[in-house]
Amino acid sequence: MRTPGTETEDSEIIVTIDGPAGSGKSTAARQLAVRLGFDFLDTGAMYRAVAWQCLNSQIDLQSEDDVAGCARDLKISIGDGKVIANGEDVSAAIRTPEVTEVASKVAINTRVRDAMVRLQQNAAKGQNMVTEGRDQGTIVFPDAICKFFLTADVEQRALRRQQELEQQGQNISLEEIRSQIAERDQRDIERDVAPLLPAEDATLVDTSQMSADEVVDHLEKTVKQRCGRDID
Ligand code: DC
Repeated sequence: MRTPGTETEDSEIIVTIDGPAGSGKSTAARQLAVRLGFDFLDTGAMYRAVAWQCLNSQIDLQSEDDVAGCARDLKISIGDGKVIANGEDVSAAIRTPEVTEVASKVAINTRVRDAMVRLQQNAAKGQNMVTEGRDQGTIVFPDAICKFFLTADVEQRALRRQQELEQQGQNISLEEIRSQIAERDQRDIERDVAPLLPAEDATLVDTSQMSADEVVDHLEKTVKQRCGRDID
């Protein structure tokens, strides 16, 4: 581990983990950050916070200007497992199905994305960081030293999502979850700006048959092989 205070702006180690919902990237990224002693950035939470604020302020979601204005004026801070939007703890509120749906719509807005990309790049300045999202390896951190793209088949992803929702007390049929995932995937993949795509230099990991621990072990091993001297 490097000595705190010796980092320079261009010496940070960035590990990007992109992939679709339910690929296991959130759990893996969080745990990997803990193992490496790095900061963790959940960029999906930022788009969710914008969606939450739009809903809360009854913004017309059809108006690109209003949605962009909402994102521009929003103060987001993420840390210690909490998401704070304009001073309010929205960590739980941003996980509802309604916010999930709206987040994937506001994420199409170019000006929303520009604002989020700036925040993400600023968050990484001088920090070793594991960051997770859809465009981290392609757009936000094209020079990251380690890039991963996690996938899993739709059936597995729907099952994982159902278990996650059950833990939050929400019972939704597998069929409904599967169709929501497919619809969101399509929107994320087909959008013109920052579509969900692996970076050319990303390591692809199919997690369909892997446990959460196996995924983290694999990622940790790969990162350490690639930049072990800077980490240990
Ligand atoms: O990962 P998630 O489900 O919390 O993300 C919420 C939405 O935000 C999802 O529809 C994709 C979008 N998103 C994005 O477009 N770019 C990112 N870097 C992260 C998330």
